[in-house]
Amino acid sequence: MPAQRVSAPVRPLPFSPRPVPLSATLAVNEVIARMRREGRRVLPLGFGEAGIPIHPVLARELGAAAGRGGYGPVAGSAALRAAAAGYWTRRGLPTDPATVVAGPGSKPLLYALLTALGGDVVVPAPSWVTYAAQTALVGAEPIRVATPPGEGGVPSPALLADAVVRARARGRDVRAVVVTLPDNPTGTIASEETVRRLCSVARRHDLVVISDEIYRDLVHAPDRTVPSPARHAPERTVVTTALSKSLAAGGWRLGVARLPDGPFGRALRDSLLGVASEIWSSAPAPMQHAAAYAFAEPPELVEHIDRSRRLHAAITGAVARRFAAAGARVARPEAAFYLYPDFGPLRDGLRERHGVRTAGDLTHLLLERHGVGVLPGSSFGDAPASLRMRVAPSLLYGEDDEQRLAALASADPASLPWIADALDHLSGVLAGLTESVTVSEPAPV
Ligand SMILES: Cc1ncc(COP(=O)(O)O)c(C=O)c1O
Repeated sequence: MPAQRVSAPVRPLPFSPRPVPLSATLAVNEVIARMRREGRRVLPLGFGEAGIPIHPVLARELGAAAGRGGYGPVAGSAALRAAAAGYWTRRGLPTDPATVVAGPGSKPLLYALLTALGGDVVVPAPSWVTYAAQTALVGAEPIRVATPPGEGGVPSPALLADAVVRARARGRDVRAVVVTLPDNPTGTIASEETVRRLCSVARRHDLVVISDEIYRDLVHAPDRTVPSPARHAPERTVVTTALSKSLAAGGWRLGVARLPDGPFGRALRDSLLGVASEIWSSAPAPMQHAAAYAFAEPPELVEHIDRSRRLHAAITGAVARRFAAAGARVARPEAAFYLYPDFGPLRDGLRERHGVRTAGDLTHLLLERHGVGVLPGSSFGDAPASLRMRVAPSLLYGEDDEQRLAALASADPASLPWIADALDHLSGVLAGLTESVTVSEPAPV
C-alpha cells in the first residue's frame, strides 16, 4: 500500500504582486475578441494595429533568415544599423550607423531609454498610453503638459518651461521630454515652429528630447513634411521608429533608436546597451535581416507604404466625417490611422439622456450597448470629464487578407461593401446616441 502523504498546510504568500494594469489599447482588444466569440456584432476601433497584410517580399526575407539562431550584437547587426542610418539620412537626418541601436520593438527601446536616463519625464497630454505608464514603471514621475490646439504630440513649449521649473522647485529631477511626430492619439502633426520652440526650451532647461517618429511615413498628404527635433537639437534628441506601423509588422517586434552624436549621446548609448543586454540581449536575428531589407526601402515596399498611407487617409477621413455629422468636434486627421473626436458640444444631452459624465462613461456605453470599441481620452492623460476619445479605424479594412488587399488596391476603399457597411453601422450607432441631443457648438472637420 502506498504511504499516505500528509501535506503540510500551505501558507498564502504575505504580499501581492505589484498591480500593473494591462495597457488600455491591448485591454480593449481583448474585450472585443470576447464579444466576438459571444457572437455579438462589434466595431473594433480601439486597437492601433495597422490592419494591412505583410508584404510578400518581407515574408520572403524573414524566411530566408529563419536559420539564424545566434544572438548577435546587443546593438543590432551591422547590416540593420547601416540600413536604418540610410533611412534617416534620406529624411534629412544624417546618421552614423554607430549611433543606431535595435531592439524588439520601439516600446522596449523606450523603456530601456527611460531606465538609462533615470529621471522624470514630461509627456504630452494627451499622449500614447505607454509613455506615462513606462515612466511610472521605472520609478519616475510622468509630468503631463498639454499640447497646443490642433498640434498633438508636442507639449506646448510655453507650458513646458513652466512645468519643468515648477517640478524642479518641488524637488523633481526632470530629465526628458517625449514627443510623438506624427501623433497618436490625435492623428495630427505639430508645426516646424512648435518643434523648434520646444527644442529651445529643452536646451534652456537641460532636457533630452525623445522623438517617437513611428508614424513618420504615414502622413496623408504626400508633400507634407514631418519636423524632427533631431534637426533643431541634434545633441540631445533620440529618435525612435519601427516596422510596426508603416509595414504593419507590429507582431514581428523590431524597432530602432537613433542616439545623438557626441559625449552625452555615447554615454546614453552605453547605458542603453547595458539595459538591453540585461533584458533582451539582442533583437531577433531573422527580424533584423528583414528589417535591414525594409529600411533600405526597395521600390515594392515604398509603393506598399504609399498605398497604405492612401488607405489610412481615405478611411480615417470618412470616419471623421461620420463623427462630425453626429455633432462631435474633430480635427482633420493628417497622418496615421487615428482621430480624436470630442463630444463636448453634446455634453448636456449625453448627461441627461444617458447619464454620461466622463469619457469613460461614454466609451463604456459605446462598447457594452453598441459593440463599438474606442478608448476614452482619460487613457491618454486627458481629464476624465473631457468627452474625447481615440478612434482607430484601421481594423475596418477587412476581416481577412483578401479583403485587406482589396482595400489597399481600391481607389475608393470607403465604398467597398464591408467598409461601407461598417461606416453606416457606425453612423447609425452615433445617430442613436446623439438623437435629440442638442449640439451646443458647430462641429467642423
Ligand atoms: C506612438 C507609438 N509609439 C510606439 C508604438 C509601439 O511600437 P512598437 O510596436 O515598435 O513597440 C506605438 C503603438 O501603438 C505607438 O502608437
